[in-house]
Amino acid sequence: MLHVFDDTEALVEAALDAFSGLAHAAVEKRGRFTVALAGGSTPRALYARLAQRPELPWDRVELCFGDERAVPPDHADSNARMVHETLTHEPFVDPAHVHRMRAELPPAEAAADYEQTLRGLFADAELPRFDLVLLGLGTDGHTASLFPHTKALGERTAWVVDNHVDKLGVDRITLTYPVLNAADRVLFLVTGADKANALRDTLEGTAAIEDVPARGVRPSSGNLMFLVDRAAASALS
Ligand code: 6PG
Repeated sequence: MLHVFDDTEALVEAALDAFSGLAHAAVEKRGRFTVALAGGSTPRALYARLAQRPELPWDRVELCFGDERAVPPDHADSNARMVHETLTHEPFVDPAHVHRMRAELPPAEAAADYEQTLRGLFADAELPRFDLVLLGLGTDGHTASLFPHTKALGERTAWVVDNHVDKLGVDRITLTYPVLNAADRVLFLVTGADKANALRDTLEGTAAIEDVPARGVRPSSGNLMFLVDRAAASALS
């Protein structure tokens, strides 16, 4: 559930091992590995290490996104751009296996478009069951683009929605709780002292999901893991 690492390097190595192990197991069992990548800055180091592992079964890996900013893929804020810079620029990653959210479209259209992409990938299942969902944690307790007191928190049927974040004055596209909680495994990567209070509020206490959206991530598989560094863990009891 919770693994505390002395430093970011140790955390990234553990995340790399987890990704690699899960990828091999999923390909072995089901012939492919479906993963929803986290955005933001924390996972950059992991993606850069994955870029040094051409031997992983990349031709069987379907790289999806947990959320995206409502910007074109060449924009500085784009998660697709960040993942391209760190990982998917590598020749061993086939672009046909990289499924970015087309956030250059109007947000609601981008969300509907991505839901169709996922329905194609998951053969119109009841819910897409990702083998792995990687998530980060915001200082306000958001995860993916499920921000406190935003509309997306209440979505129970759509797989992907657009979400206006008043506090930031931006639009986002995000997977919804039903999709995150259908995942076989969810891995949070959390580093830095600035995340300490959000991590404490996520793991301890009785805060409402509206206030700390990361508390709403409870995969029915039960496979929920937090890989955190000492600084992020510094407010835990
Ligand atoms: C995004 C992410 C978001 C992120 C947190 C933490 O698009 O920004 O998906 O949920 O994980 O905001 O971001 P950092 O890793 O940059 O602290």
